[in-house]
Amino acid sequence: MNSPTAGQAGPAGGREDPEPARSGWASWPGAPAAGTRICAGADLVEGATLGVAPGGFPLLLVRQQGRVRAYVNACPHQYLPLDYRGGRVLSADGTLLRCTSHGAGFSVDTGEGVEGHGIGSCLEPVPVEEVGSEIRIAGRR
Ligand code: FES
Repeated sequence: MNSPTAGQAGPAGGREDPEPARSGWASWPGAPAAGTRICAGADLVEGATLGVAPGGFPLLLVRQQGRVRAYVNACPHQYLPLDYRGGRVLSADGTLLRCTSHGAGFSVDTGEGVEGHGIGSCLEPVPVEEVGSEIRIAGRR
């Protein structure tokens, strides 16, 4: 008989693991913990993207109207970084993140694939916060 493993609830009436299973971006190997410093806020200018890798974990940041969003920097088409072939990821109208490898387009607001190889897939959003002069992974520590 199998016994429960980390992140799984046991059989009815059995012991439950106190650590909830990580999902979404947090389930990726090397996902940084809440509170991890990503970069200085000044490094991400208005209307631009920035590829960074805190602790080796690939993130793509975008700032629009002051708001910072972040996604795992891995295009679901072939899991290459969106900026693999250069930094021109944000569309001219500012609504899309367009993968530089094969042109998949993703909504800046949601990460949903809306063009080309992106249709039917989604970027993994990562919660971030700007605290003072730093951008950090958001959430409980
Ligand atoms: S890897 Fe992004 S479109 Fe192919």
